[in-house]
Formats: sequence, C-alpha cells, structure tokens
Amino acid sequence: MPVPDVLLNNGKTIPILGLGTWGSPKGEVVQAVKDAIDIGYRHIDCAHVYQNEDEVGEGIEAKIAEGVVKREELFITSKLWNTFHSPALVRGALETTLKNLRLDYLDLYLIHWPMGYKEGGPLFPNDDLGKIAYSDVDYVDTWKEMEKLVEAGLVKSIGVSNFNKRQVERVLEVAAIPPVTNQIECHPYLTQKKLIEFCKSKNIAITAYSPLGSPNRPWAKPDDPVLLQDAKIVAIADKYGKTSAQILIRYQLQLGNIVIPKSVTKSRIASNFDVFNFDLSAEDIATIDNFNCNGRFVPLDNHRTHPHHPFANDEY
Ligand SMILES: NC(=O)c1ccc[n+]([C@@H]2O[C@H](COP(=O)([O-])OP(=O)(O)OC[C@H]3O[C@@H](n4cnc5c(N)ncnc54)[C@H](OP(=O)(O)O)[C@@H]3O)[C@@H](O)[C@H]2O)c1
Repeated sequence: MPVPDVLLNNGKTIPILGLGTWGSPKGEVVQAVKDAIDIGYRHIDCAHVYQNEDEVGEGIEAKIAEGVVKREELFITSKLWNTFHSPALVRGALETTLKNLRLDYLDLYLIHWPMGYKEGGPLFPNDDLGKIAYSDVDYVDTWKEMEKLVEAGLVKSIGVSNFNKRQVERVLEVAAIPPVTNQIECHPYLTQKKLIEFCKSKNIAITAYSPLGSPNRPWAKPDDPVLLQDAKIVAIADKYGKTSAQILIRYQLQLGNIVIPKSVTKSRIASNFDVFNFDLSAEDIATIDNFNCNGRFVPLDNHRTHPHHPFANDEY
C-alpha cells in the first residue's frame, strides 16, 4: 500500500511517513537507506550535521541505479546547520549537502534551529569558556536566502525546524514564500498541542521528530524514562497486537502529523512502516494525549542563553 501524502501549502505533497537518519552510523546507513527504499519508504529525513549525508546519498544513488525508484518518486529533506545562517553562507551550505547526497535538488530544506552559531569553523564551535559560540544572525535574514534557493530551482520547498510560535510568526512577517512545515519534537510526553494548533492555523504542516522518544540520543541518562517501554504504551500495544513503536507512529499519523522514525535495523525499518492496516480508537488517542508531561528529549539546555533559543522562557 503506498504511503499517504500530506498536501503542503505550496501545492506539493510529502509522504506522511519517512526514515530518520540522525545518529545512523556510517557503515550502516547506506544499507538502512537501501532497505528502507526496498520496503517502500519514499521520504528520507537528512541533515548536514548528522555527518552521514554522503552515505545516505550512496544508498539513494544505488536504488535509483538499480531502477527500484526514480528520483522524482523520492522526497528528500535536509537542513541548514546553525553555523551557516549568514546569508552569504546559505547557498554554499545547500550545495555541500546536494553534493554529499549526490542530488541536484532537494524536495525540502529546513532551517535546522533558529539559533546561529559562530561561522567558519566546527559544527559545534566553542568560546573561550568552552560554551557554544554564537553568531548574531537573525533567522529572518536566513529565511530570505532560503527563498532564493527555491527561486534558483535547487529546492522545491522550504521550512523551519524547532521554531516556537513567535519565531514562526516572525518568519511569516517577512516571507514571500511561507514555510511548508515546522519540524518539531513530538510524541506522547511532548504533544505540542498549542504549537501544532498555531502552525495548522497558518497552513504549516507539522513534522514530528523523535516520535519513539529518541532512545539513542547521546545525552540519555540511565534513569530517564523510556517512551518505548512505558507500561501505558505497552498496554495499548498489547491490546492492538502491535509493537510500542507502531502505536507511537500510528498516533502521529492519526493526528495528521508527518512522522520520521529512525532505525538502521532492517526488521524495525520494516515494522515501523507496517502501520497502515489498523486504527487507534478516538478514546486511545485521547488517552495517549494525556501522557503529555512537557517531556522534551532534545532540549539543547546548554544553549539556553542564546537569544534565539526556542524553548527558553517557557515559550511554545
Ligand atoms: N529537526 C531536529 O532538530 C531533529 C531532532 C531530532 C531528530 N530529528 C529527525 O527525526 C528522526 C527521528 O528521531 P530520533 O532519531 O531522535 O529518534 P526516534 O526515531 O524517536 O528513535 C530512534 C531510535 O529508536 C530505535 N528504534 C527504531 N525503531 C524501533 C522499534 N521498532 N523498536 C525499538 N526501537 C526502535 C532506533 O534504534 P536502531 O536504529 O538501532 O534500530 C533508534 O535508536 C531523526 O533520525 C532525525 O531524522 C530531527
């Protein structure tokens, strides 16, 4: 069964389910991408900062060469990293990503975070005190350069990621091309109802990242809650005869959110895709909604002093 599409505000469509690639190790991600395409995935979520786009590109290229898929049947997203927010650096950053992915256009390019970092050096630059070094570029200036990439035919759609309500509003105030999506952390511990309602009111689709609770995030502590093992999720999974991951993915689909679970394990890539043959009841969706506890797995706490940090000050 083909994956349903979501219609974007520019008339283009995106498959509602895609493969995440953050933390997908080199040496494994080529095969993961090939497996995903064989299984039926047509949407792959990438980013320069994941430092594996060359291998993602190798997997894509192999499947196109084999004739399994055509380029135009794929939906490839990447993201502008924080050290390339200066208007002068945006196009070059995209060109690096295109070269790594072995593509001549992207379907979607996102500003990865609203915060700019010091440019011209490492992806995570430090100041003299060992703290992250910031740039003072305003993301609305970055946005105007993103629009030029669309005009140049290098990207079909543009969007944002990790932007709070006010930050989305500021982009909309200057935008000739509005963002098609805001890619945000979203799962039962962080349901993001207010931000989702706001984005939907502006015809901006939601892409839910870390839908499984990001168990392999590098800063996970041993006693952090594990969403996939939450007894309440497991109970719902048992009731439907599904896995916890399938329940968490299906939850996003029924909310109408685009969802991008990551795996490099073939059996999981397959089972995460096998989510179009059952429905969660309205009661179970409401129950899962109630697990919300503002439980953010990707808080970027050590960057909170940045003036454009999206989650400081309890903003949504
Ligand atoms: N825009 C942003 O700032 C941002 C931030 C975070 C994530 N993202 C995007 O969203 C994607 C997904 O988020 P995420 O990587 O943080 O986490 P996630 O998709 O919530 O969880 C991925 C982890 O769950 C494991 N897993 C996958 N399927 C499973 C299953 N069926 N059963 C048990 N475990 C399973 C994976 O292990 P194996 O791989 O070992 O199978 C991996 O460790 C990312 O890869 C990235 O593309 C974007």
